[in-house]
Amino acid sequence: MCYNQPGIKRKGDLVLEKFVINGGKKLHGTLQISGAKNAAVAIIPAALLVEGVVTIENVPDVSDVRILIDIISEMGAKITRLGRNSFTIDSTEIKSCEPPYKMVSKLRASYYLLGALLGRFKHAVVALPGGCDFGNRPIDQHEKGFRSLGADVKIKKGAVYVKANEIKGAHIYFDNVSVGSTINIMIAATRAKGTTVIENAAKEPHIVDVANFLNAMGANIKGAGTDVIRIRGVDSLKGGHTYSLIPDQIETGTYMIAAAATGGDVTITGIIPKHMESLTAKLIEMNVGIEEGGDYIRVFGKGKMRGATVKTQPYPGFPTDLQPQIATLLCLADGVSTVYEKVWDTRFQYIVELNRMGAKIKADGNTAIIDGPSTLSGAPVRSNDLRAGAALVIAGLVAEGVTQIYNVRFIDRGYEDIEAKLRDLGADIQRVSYDTEE
Ligand code: EPU
Repeated sequence: MCYNQPGIKRKGDLVLEKFVINGGKKLHGTLQISGAKNAAVAIIPAALLVEGVVTIENVPDVSDVRILIDIISEMGAKITRLGRNSFTIDSTEIKSCEPPYKMVSKLRASYYLLGALLGRFKHAVVALPGGCDFGNRPIDQHEKGFRSLGADVKIKKGAVYVKANEIKGAHIYFDNVSVGSTINIMIAATRAKGTTVIENAAKEPHIVDVANFLNAMGANIKGAGTDVIRIRGVDSLKGGHTYSLIPDQIETGTYMIAAAATGGDVTITGIIPKHMESLTAKLIEMNVGIEEGGDYIRVFGKGKMRGATVKTQPYPGFPTDLQPQIATLLCLADGVSTVYEKVWDTRFQYIVELNRMGAKIKADGNTAIIDGPSTLSGAPVRSNDLRAGAALVIAGLVAEGVTQIYNVRFIDRGYEDIEAKLRDLGADIQRVSYDTEE
C-alpha cells in the first residue's frame, strides 16, 4: 500500500479520479518533456541552504513537488510563483527545523530536508519518509553519512533526529549505490568544515543537476556523475541566481516506450539523449525505430518486436523507474523475455494487473518471465505506485477496448499533464472523477 497523496485539485481533499482509455490508437506527433521530478524534489530542499532568493525554472507541476513546496512554506520559506513551472524560494528566515510530520511522511524525498537542515542549522527532526512501497526502503546509508559528518542520528517516534555541534568533512564509502544517500550527504556536506569525499556514489543525471545547482549558489562540488564526489565545505550559499532543471529522464523513457508500444511515430524534444542510452539500446535490440538528434529522440514502430532481457541497475544501467513500462512493452514482443529487478525488493505488484489485461507474466522473487506476444484487452485496473501506473497507461493505450485505471493520484506524483500530452499525440484518454471508491 502506498501512503495516500492529497488530491491535486484542492488542498486537503482526496480527489478520486481514474483514467478511461479507449485503446488501439497509434501515437503520432511531437512532445515536449517536463523538468526532472527527482531533481526537483532534491533541489527544492537544497534551496533551504541558501540565505537569499533563488529562482528555479523548468520545475514539473506534479503533486510531489507541490507537497514539498507546501512543506517548506510551512517552515518559513517564502515562495513566489512566476509561472506554472518556475518560482522563487527565499529561505532567509526559516523558523522551524521540524517540518510538519503529516505532510513529510507522505513523501519519500522528504529525507532531503534532513541533509539541508543539518547542513545549515546543524539539527533537524524529520518524519521517516513515505512514498510508494516496493519493499524495504532503508535509510541506513543516509544515517551512516550523517554520522560520518559528525552528527548524532536517532530514530524515535517515527522520525529521524539529527544533531551536530559541527558538521565536519569526512571520507564516506557507501555500502551500496544509493541515489538518495549520495544527494543527501552532498547537500549536508556543502556547508561542512573541510572536505568530504563520497565513494561508491550514485551517478544518476539528477545527482549532477543537484551538484550544478549547489555550485551555482557558491558550493564547491567536484566529481558529481562519477563514483567519487568531492565536496569542499563553504561558509554560506548566496542567492540571486536562477537555475533551470534538466529534463526528466524517466518521463522521456515512459513516452518513448508508449510510442514503441503503439507502433506510432513520436518525436520527444527538449531532452538529453545521452541520459536515455540504456533504453535506446534496448529498444533498438527489440527492433524499434530510433532516430537521435542533439535534443530529441524520435521513436517509431518498425513492425514485429523481439523479446529481450532487461536488468535494472543504477545509472548508467537500465533504470528501475522504467522497469514496469519496459515489461509492458516486452509483453507485446515475440518470444520469452526476462526482467531482473536488481534495485528494489518487490517492484512487480503491477504484474497481476497486466495479467488481468491478457499479459502472460510470471514473477518469482526479483525475476519476471514474460511470454509474448500477448494481445492486451481493456480492463479495470489499479495502479499501486507511480511507475506501475505509467505502465498501466501504456497497456491501456495498446489494449483493445476500454481500460479504466484507478488510483490516478499516484501517477500525478510524477507526470505533469500525462493525459493532455497523450491526447496531443492522438490517444483517447480521459480523466474522470468519481465520488466513492468503485
Ligand atoms: N538503500 C539502502 N540503504 C539506504 C538507501 C538505499 O540499502 O540508506 C538501497 C535501497 O533499498 C535500494 C537501493 O539502495 O535497494 C537504491 O535506493 P536509492 O537510495 O538509490 O533510492 P532512493 O533515493 O530512495 C531514488 C528515486 C526512486 C528510484 C531510486 C533508484 C527519488 C525521490 N527517488 O530513490 O524513484 O527508484 O532512486 O533509482 O529520487 C520514482 O521516481 O518512481 C522512484 C521511486
